[in-house]
Amino acid sequence: MSLTFDLHRNSSPASAERRAQIHANPGFGVHFTDHMVRAVWTKDGGWGDGRVEPYGPLQLMPSAAVLHYAQEIFEGLKAYRHADGSVWSFRPEANAERMQRSARRIALPELPTQDFVESLRALLAVDEPWVPPAGTGETSLYLRPFTFASEPFLGVRPANEATYCLIASPAGAYFPGGLKPVTLWISQHYARAGAGGTGAAKAGGNYASSLAGQLEGIENGCDQAVFLDSSTQTYIEELGGMNLFFVTRDNHLVTPELTGSILEGITRDSILELAPSLGLTPQERRIPIQEWKDGVASGEISEVFACGTAAVITPVGELRWEGGSAPSTAGEGGGEVTKAIRTALLDIQYGRAEDTHGWMTRL
Ligand code: PLP
Ligand code: COI
Repeated sequence: MSLTFDLHRNSSPASAERRAQIHANPGFGVHFTDHMVRAVWTKDGGWGDGRVEPYGPLQLMPSAAVLHYAQEIFEGLKAYRHADGSVWSFRPEANAERMQRSARRIALPELPTQDFVESLRALLAVDEPWVPPAGTGETSLYLRPFTFASEPFLGVRPANEATYCLIASPAGAYFPGGLKPVTLWISQHYARAGAGGTGAAKAGGNYASSLAGQLEGIENGCDQAVFLDSSTQTYIEELGGMNLFFVTRDNHLVTPELTGSILEGITRDSILELAPSLGLTPQERRIPIQEWKDGVASGEISEVFACGTAAVITPVGELRWEGGSAPSTAGEGGGEVTKAIRTALLDIQYGRAEDTHGWMTRL
């Protein structure tokens, strides 16, 4: 039986003026809408108690398993307003399916795709005015579904109670510099994920594990860290929250193949599918970090960019490591191919181009 979400209205929602103020400068992940969705799963009863309620603090026992053993997964997708005022999301079924794969890996309950999409619709039914108006640049409403072990129990085993939540946050550029290329640091001391681990799951623990590498990057004047395979420290994997692409001189669009320790990005997958229409040959393979260093020097690599829901497509500039660096190929605001891919993707998401792939779902 599918979940229903009963509405409990926020008695003090933000005013239209306050929303307009936030929409004028949303930043990323700092402002939240008036409501949230919540549902509870128990081992005996399955999913139930679905509700849309005022956004606010959760009540959690200090013994809740998630606080001790990090049994938590999440998703990230956006709601876009089109010129006619309608609101759409991009491949939400793919997010639902990835969340189910993450759930299996972290031993959390799977939320069926229909319930996942219904939860988005239930929240948008009350918080639709929070989706930024059309024509205000690349602003959207970032949707953050997550599931965590809410059972108060300190034994190490899969929890018998879990909570699903959905919150939403108006979003502008993920990086304050907008399209300014980001500088990357090769994380040699810290891996984000390893063989047989949880790297392919969108699990909170992976992000905790990426932070020391990111901090090391920041201490070395970089914006983000790039993680290598943990076994050999040879092959490029991804960033803490984005996949990576390389454009070659002969128009190949190359990205690290999925090894089990890389997140299967939905943006990544979509870009691979868009590549031929932009005159690019997509290629998924293992990429030695040395190939990046040499390719920039020889001119073999013409552009590098990172991609993900939050960051969309962000040009990558200089690469640094202990004792060396490779210069940027990105110019001021990214190379021509990076910009063309970014435009092609955003045009579909904002309804400015025909959705020939069937990627958009009306909310
Ligand atoms: N890699 C990691 C580690 C991420 O957190 C994300 C963001 O979701 C991505 C890649 C890109 O995935 P997607 O394009 O589905 O947002
Ligand atoms: C996203 O792009 O949706 C992410 O989850 C990346 C980051 C904000 C963690």
